[in-house]
Amino acid sequence: MNPIVFTKNKKSPSIYPVTLCLLTLLLSLSLSPAVFSDEVSPKSAAPLLQSDLYHEPIQPLRQTEGLNPHKISLGERLFHDLRLGRDNDMACSSCHNINDNGADHYTRAPGRDGTTLDVNTLTVFNSSRNHRQFWDGRARNLEEQIDTVVTNPKEFATTWPSIIGKLEQDTDYARTFPEIYPKGITANNIRNAIATFVRSLITVNSPFDRFLLGDSDAISPQAKAGYRLFKAYGCVACHQGSNVGGNLFVKLGVFKDYFAVRGNPTRADLGRFNVTGKARDRHVFRVPSLRLVALTPPYFHDGRVTTLAEAVSIMAEHQLGRTIPGQDIQHIVTFLESLPGEYRGQPLGHKP
Ligand code: HEC
Ligand code: HEC
Repeated sequence: MNPIVFTKNKKSPSIYPVTLCLLTLLLSLSLSPAVFSDEVSPKSAAPLLQSDLYHEPIQPLRQTEGLNPHKISLGERLFHDLRLGRDNDMACSSCHNINDNGADHYTRAPGRDGTTLDVNTLTVFNSSRNHRQFWDGRARNLEEQIDTVVTNPKEFATTWPSIIGKLEQDTDYARTFPEIYPKGITANNIRNAIATFVRSLITVNSPFDRFLLGDSDAISPQAKAGYRLFKAYGCVACHQGSNVGGNLFVKLGVFKDYFAVRGNPTRADLGRFNVTGKARDRHVFRVPSLRLVALTPPYFHDGRVTTLAEAVSIMAEHQLGRTIPGQDIQHIVTFLESLPGEYRGQPLGHKP
């Protein structure tokens, strides 16, 4: 494991310590709904001062510095290479479309041999900023995450020696690998190249980040109202930092049993319990990043919910014990729509 990257992963979540989150949550629960009325007020339209930025629970995303461009382009090629799949039929890009949202639009993606994957596909964009990988956080970093794809019988369903054997036949890889990695084509180096490419997938310059950095016209008054509501209702207790989530483990259903309402329990619903075996981790999930949430329907680990408005309403009810009026939900959705940024200078999203 690269120690520098490890420090980075460990460090980023600590910007907003758990204590702050709990305080925010407590504060939000103790305030009365009246405090939040009339959100599109002149005050909400006032620009954030540069010096205020550090006090905001959400921070701008910045490009990862210091990545080796040769590793990025090798990793990009491997990410799209169908030979990684057992029958030369599946690549990372089969489920993670970089030209769209870094995920797919399935409830749960189709896997090998007519299977369906256990949970909704997460986007690869900005995933390196999450403190753990996957809904249940079972992979500690991107390298571990790649190992699970290689051996998963529903995904690549193969072994590293088999992949290495195939890549060694490719004269271009046989030439390129040793130029970058002294040991050539090895499992470690394949993992490292793919992980480096994934670390480069950061969405910068979003309208919301431009607003945070002082451009008060970058987002609409409705989006500004939505941000104020997102803070005031206490969504930021769990969704904060530059990735607007991705740095805490929390139970789905703090105030109301999500699974009793939905029915049809699955093993994946147990969340972190499947990783730790501890009773207190039942239904606990890594809080997902909301950076690209406007582009990645359907929602939740089960992919059950199709609209963002419904997802927000379910969150308010189950995580905060509140019912939020329709107009506030609309403002929050408008705010969430201002969060996706650009990749390689282009806005994200489906291009016809
Ligand atoms: C068959 C579909 C499929 C393929 C192929 C696939 N993924 Fe995924 N990916 C998923 C699903 C589904 C999840 C969520 C799984 C979970 O949380 O348990 C996921 C999650 C991830 C995550 C975690 C994101 C986060 O926020 O935690 C990363 C990173 C990722 N995939 C990268 C890759 C890479 C790299 C490859 C190729 C080595 C790959 N995926 C191949 C479907 C796929
Ligand atoms: C107590 C912590 C907590 C609070 C507070 C909270 N969330 Fe969440 N949020 C979660 C967790 C955990 C999930 C993942 C649920 C799952 O496993 O499907 C989630 C998922 C989401 C999703 C779906 C993401 C996706 O990619 O599918 C949206 C949208 C969302 N939250 C918005 C909000 C909004 C808006 C608020 C405030 C009204 C809020 N959340 C408050 C913890 C929280």
